[in-house]
Amino acid sequence: MTSTLLRGRTLSFLRWPETVDDHSAWRYEDDGGLLLRDGRIVAAGAYAEVEKKADEGVKKIDHRPHLLLPGFIDAHAHFPQMQVIASYGAELLDWLNTYTFPEETKFQNAQHGRRIARLFLDEMVRHGTTTVAAYCSVHRESAEAFFAESHDRNMLNVAGKVMMDRNAPEGVLDTPQSAYDDSKALIAEWHGKGRQHYAITPRFAITSSPEQLEMAGALCREHPDLHMQTHLSENHAEIAFTLQLYPQAHDYTDVYEQYGLLGRKSLFGHCIHLSEREADALSDTGSVAVFCPTSNLFLGSGLFDYQRYRTREKALRIAAATDVGGGTNYSMLRTMDEGYKAIALNGEKLNPFQSFWQLTRGNAEALSIVERIGTLDQGSDADIVVLDARATPAMRLRMETADTLAEELFLLQTLGDDRAVREVYVAGRAMKCDLGLNVAMK
Ligand code: GUN
Ligand code: ZN
Repeated sequence: MTSTLLRGRTLSFLRWPETVDDHSAWRYEDDGGLLLRDGRIVAAGAYAEVEKKADEGVKKIDHRPHLLLPGFIDAHAHFPQMQVIASYGAELLDWLNTYTFPEETKFQNAQHGRRIARLFLDEMVRHGTTTVAAYCSVHRESAEAFFAESHDRNMLNVAGKVMMDRNAPEGVLDTPQSAYDDSKALIAEWHGKGRQHYAITPRFAITSSPEQLEMAGALCREHPDLHMQTHLSENHAEIAFTLQLYPQAHDYTDVYEQYGLLGRKSLFGHCIHLSEREADALSDTGSVAVFCPTSNLFLGSGLFDYQRYRTREKALRIAAATDVGGGTNYSMLRTMDEGYKAIALNGEKLNPFQSFWQLTRGNAEALSIVERIGTLDQGSDADIVVLDARATPAMRLRMETADTLAEELFLLQTLGDDRAVREVYVAGRAMKCDLGLNVAMK
């Protein structure tokens, strides 16, 4: 197996950066090297040192003056919603009924699922995202399509067929038993195959009967190493309807709690309107609250109080995500730009090192896979994004007055998108170059 030696400005985080001067929270090399072999990073550090470890036939790629970071991680997105994104004028429940559920009925067709899965993963990679926690549609075929495309690309992705058996059109409904059986079959076929991870995925309490949440809980007990993903406390009408459907529950979080769905591998999308009790319950169980700023703004759902959740006595584990197609952009740079504004509306700030920590190591920690992805550490999988802070005329001009790495990162977040992504490596393979992802989608 040949090895590859990348050269560029490398940045990788060791922990949460408290301030922009908290230098020991990250490792930055102005002339850095990454030696890749068999899909892994086998050496990282100053280029001169890393080069000494390379073998004779090593392929050298010089990315200077660009930045090399761990590939971005998107902790929540819906791959069947590529043709839902940019749908006008509705709040969550109407948006689901008017646009989303009808669109997702199309995924009973395996060919359609395969086409959209291919385009979705191409789009993710073009935007620098190398791992996504994805919702498929209710149809087993949609998850088959997603995993097949993901496996073909050798991407580390987390995904699951949604479980939903009520309050939606017939074409997107399963039953408690078929959801259990299909999830079991998909777990057996895909979980642990290459880099694939299965997530047990009850869509949300409104579309699952108590019997189905019971089944989801059984799956979690039978497979404690798997992720569980769902939606929680996104919108006031959603919360009211949930409490009507589950009258015994103290609150929305308690619905999931009663079925054993909280835990360190549990990812709860949105979590905007949590009470203190609910936040305590998530914190006590190590559950993850997923911040989806473009979606929260687009659907008018509310402002996720990132800094309060992070600093409260019982702190929450937090991830960040696009939530496409409620979210409005595939880019995690655009996502953190909107996130910055949402946090600002709560009177707080997120500094650029904190943002880039969140996109990489922070999301990897939240997904409990930081031993594989989210850093440029030796031994990590070689998922890497190459960023160009001068990608557009406006960025180039602004860079003339940016003197520090913090300023450069903030500029990338504020003005950057897929145009700032020069190359993406997935398990050591150059995807933009190899797959022709620079050109318009086929
Ligand atoms: N709640 C249940 N399903 C969905 C979905 O597809 N998108 C969003 N944003 N919220 C949901
Ligand atoms: Zn969602």
